[in-house]
Amino acid sequence: MSECLLEVKNLTKRFPIKGGLFGREVASVKAVNDVSFKINKGETLGLVGESGCGKTTLGRSLLRLIEPTAGEVIFNGQDITKFNATQMREMRRKIQIIFQDPFASLNPRMTVGGIISEPMEIHNLAVGKDARQKRLYELIDQVQLPKDALNKYPHEFSGGQRQRICIARALAVEPEFIVCDEPVSALDVSVQAQVVNLLMDLQKDLGLTYLFIAHDLKVVEFISDRVAVMYLGNMVEVAKSSEIYGNAKHPYTKALFSAIPTPNPEVVVDRIILEGDIPSPMNPPSGCHFHPRCWKATDKCRQTYPELTHISENHKFKCHNPL
Ligand SMILES: Nc1ncnc2c1ncn2[C@@H]1O[C@H](COP(=O)(O)OP(=O)(O)O)[C@@H](O)[C@H]1O
Ligand SMILES: [Mg+2]
Repeated sequence: MSECLLEVKNLTKRFPIKGGLFGREVASVKAVNDVSFKINKGETLGLVGESGCGKTTLGRSLLRLIEPTAGEVIFNGQDITKFNATQMREMRRKIQIIFQDPFASLNPRMTVGGIISEPMEIHNLAVGKDARQKRLYELIDQVQLPKDALNKYPHEFSGGQRQRICIARALAVEPEFIVCDEPVSALDVSVQAQVVNLLMDLQKDLGLTYLFIAHDLKVVEFISDRVAVMYLGNMVEVAKSSEIYGNAKHPYTKALFSAIPTPNPEVVVDRIILEGDIPSPMNPPSGCHFHPRCWKATDKCRQTYPELTHISENHKFKCHNPL
């Protein structure tokens, strides 16, 4: 029986848009809307959806790098949105994040050794010169970088190696949970697989739990146990990755995954081309937000937002007119 590590309940984030002479709130971007889900220990939950649908906002809200407007983030049984600064500092050891651009998140004036040491200093880990050095070698070995990497600077490395440095820095504090925000999207395709494989090996060895945000649906399907699909701030479907491709219930999920090219030319896939642009999250459409682009939309879809339907504990969706 798997144990729940993270439970997110009704998480909402609105970014106020200020304007006018007095800087009053004139509108707001509903970046994440009433999102709920669970992640079990050792599991990878993939998170997909078109650009701007709220994936990064959701991921950062889990660490409170962005303060949620409402909702709960329950980690190991405690709601961390209620934590004060001291409690939150301790919690940051348990929850780490890896960003898309491994260059922007590394200080160019620090050596790799310095970069990976920094979080250990903050959290008082591996104290003393020998212990620190031993731990640095261990980390650099875990992410498969050469030992002499510790004395070099970020610009001396390739994109894939820089992402390994970021992974080592995240691992330095012995986290339980890592938000991976498009960690391979900026890398060459040949390097992507190596970094994804590394993340999967580390997960096995260290018992890590991931929220894996990605653009590339093939990568997500490969690395994830379950996949969650977001549309305009809402989580519209969650299913096992083995089911999300062939057994999607939400038309948006179906459309998203029908765009994946298949390696076998004899398999004919009905491509679904979505019409129209993604609507603005400042002013989302009435009812089901997807209805203006949906080929199955009815009057009900235009009027009321669909409730969550459970097919099983692992497969849920929000649609009035499922496939
Ligand atoms: N700091 C901010 N202020 C205002 N709007 C923001 C801010 N950050 C993100 N947004 C908006 O929130 C929505 C979701 O953005 P984001 O979470 O970055 O999406 P994704 O990662 O899926 O591309 C977008 O419409 C974006 O423009
Ligand atoms: Mg993003």
